[in-house]
Amino acid sequence: MYLHGTSVINKAGRLEIGGCDAVELADKFGTPLYVFDEELIRRRCREFMEAFRATGMKFEVAYASKAFCVMAMCRIAEEEGLSLDVVSDGELYTALRAGFPPGRIHFHGNNKTPEEIEMALDAKIGCIVVDNFTELYLLSETAKAKGAVMNVLFRVTPGVEAHTHEFISTGQTDTKFGFDIGNGSAFRSVREAMELPNVRILGVHSHIGSQIFEVDGFRLAAERVAEFAQTVRQELGITFPVINLGGGFGIRYVEEDRPLPLAQYVQAITEAIRTLFARYEYPLPEIWIEPGRSIVGDAGTTLYTIGSSKTIPGVRKYVSVDGGMTDNPRPALYDAKYEAMLANRALEPVEETVSIAGKCCETGDMLIWDLELPKTQPGDTLAVSCTGAYNYSMASNYNRLRRPAVVFVKDGAADLVVRRETFEDVAGKDLLPERLRKQPVANS
Ligand code: LLP
Repeated sequence: MYLHGTSVINKAGRLEIGGCDAVELADKFGTPLYVFDEELIRRRCREFMEAFRATGMKFEVAYASKAFCVMAMCRIAEEEGLSLDVVSDGELYTALRAGFPPGRIHFHGNNKTPEEIEMALDAKIGCIVVDNFTELYLLSETAKAKGAVMNVLFRVTPGVEAHTHEFISTGQTDTKFGFDIGNGSAFRSVREAMELPNVRILGVHSHIGSQIFEVDGFRLAAERVAEFAQTVRQELGITFPVINLGGGFGIRYVEEDRPLPLAQYVQAITEAIRTLFARYEYPLPEIWIEPGRSIVGDAGTTLYTIGSSKTIPGVRKYVSVDGGMTDNPRPALYDAKYEAMLANRALEPVEETVSIAGKCCETGDMLIWDLELPKTQPGDTLAVSCTGAYNYSMASNYNRLRRPAVVFVKDGAADLVVRRETFEDVAGKDLLPERLRKQPVANS
């Protein structure tokens, strides 16, 4: 397994993250356990911030909180000077509860409810990324009723398909998201918004996909967006002060993944915008981006305890862990690949090839196929790396499993940032209507 961030193998031959022995973490907090390397999260934030600062341009890096949204993470994003992208009332609530400055919050989503729009207006967040006409008018009416003015970006689909997994590609024309540039609806959205005094037009937003390893897609999106901005300026007399090019910067899950250094994505994007807008003699806009996965993905490691196994002679050996698709649905959903190691016997030589199964009642609940490990035994601690993005945030209670705890480690200290769910968390919301309640047994 590749050792990310502060991960090392310590003198005891065990995996250590943030100066904390992984086996001790598993003992203390139980498994499955999400462990986050705080230093690495901060390093990733700084890579983006410093790369932008070096350009001398105006910018905002908004952490896409959908990747991993808990209060402790909101605080880190804030401390590192990032803004925050939220996509629901729950994420907004989390951010506000953590005290995140509302003016640095951007609200996304293709079906914001009237309640969400009210909540965003009441909290006076920085901007709403408007996705469609229904929302534009709902926002305008709600803002008017409150005597408020909201900054807006228009989410546009530039018709660029990023080279990534088909299911998570959102930049092409045939998508539920945004206003299409090609068919004129993006232009119409700006024209109509100009008539609405309670929305203030900041600019446009484009997100072309996820887990992208090349800069070409971003360059092409920048080109389309710049061309669109120029058309709007010429025909409507509006100059956008902000261009947001979304997230999608790839990370290394397994050996075959070859991500670029984060600074390289920033350089490509800023250079493209600078050149294109200069060509149109357009005032240089602020550039915003929204990385999610690349901020938290490789900082996360999930610890499991190995339990039972099953050997099918001539076929394979299944080794089961105490979690699975409930804490990591990505292999089942996207055929995502992960690396792993035995955290308690990290230096022992490879002796067997096994496939790691989850504990859910579902054949598809597999975490890793054909993983080389020392001879495994029940009670071993399995560490799966790169589980920081879209694992906790997409975790479920399938089979009524309790969602794991989340721990931040740094300089030898481990802090619980989300406690493990209890049975009460799982079943305590259930209600029994009167007619289904057990009648007390009458004494006779
Ligand atoms: N901005 C917008 C508008 C987005 O839709 C997304 C991700 C991001 C930013 C952040 O993208 P990132 O930098 O994290 O790639 N559940 C899937 C990923 C879905 C991504 C959805 N949008 C997964 O587990 O791979």
